[in-house]
Amino acid sequence: MEEDSVMIREAVADDAEKLLDYLEKISAESDFLTFGPRELHLDIAQEKDTLDSFSIRDNALFLVAEVDDNIIGCLNFSGGTRSRTAHTGEFGISVLQAYWGQHIGKVLLKTLISWAHRTHIIRRINLRVRMDNVRAKRLYQSAGFVEEGMIKRDLLVNGKFYDSITMGLDIN
Ligand SMILES: CC(C)(COP(=O)(O)OP(=O)(O)OC[C@H]1O[C@@H](n2cnc3c(N)ncnc32)[C@H](O)[C@@H]1OP(=O)(O)O)[C@@H](O)C(=O)NCCC(=O)NCCS
Repeated sequence: MEEDSVMIREAVADDAEKLLDYLEKISAESDFLTFGPRELHLDIAQEKDTLDSFSIRDNALFLVAEVDDNIIGCLNFSGGTRSRTAHTGEFGISVLQAYWGQHIGKVLLKTLISWAHRTHIIRRINLRVRMDNVRAKRLYQSAGFVEEGMIKRDLLVNGKFYDSITMGLDIN
């Protein structure tokens, strides 16, 4: 899928190095993520293995958004590995700050939801988002996600606790 020179596609093992560079960049840009700068400790071989496993699994999806061969956004969804949880999973999403507000998050999320319908396996998409992440919450609400619960003290960032809310979307 292409929108205003942004290409959304499934990640492949060869994206590993670029993806690690991307993750390091966004870790420094946003306090809303579950990781901070230099915290991922992943090497290229590990990342290649991760991307390979996502491409093999029927209930997992790793999307990247690219502009001119550079990764500027990503979304990864992983369903459960056992039969009782294979129909459900959580995703994480991010876009480089320079590209916020250009509907790249929205297109990534729509691509996930369409894929979920096509799998005939996924019946439920869950997420958790920091309570004060207004932009992300609006994005999820506009895609049909419903607020369902709250997790107190879910994140501890620079000595401050943050609560998260859980949201979900049934795939019928
Ligand atoms: C959350 C994030 C992925 C959104 O990506 P994005 O590409 O900027 O989002 P979009 O441009 O597709 O905007 C989607 C919706 O977000 C909302 N939105 C956009 N800009 C907003 C703003 N300044 N304030 C509040 N809501 C805003 C709108 O509802 C918008 O849809 P609309 O324009 O049709 O009304 C991105 O901001 C990001 O990477 N943030 C840091 C990491 C993060 O928070 N990840 C989520 C963790 S749960």
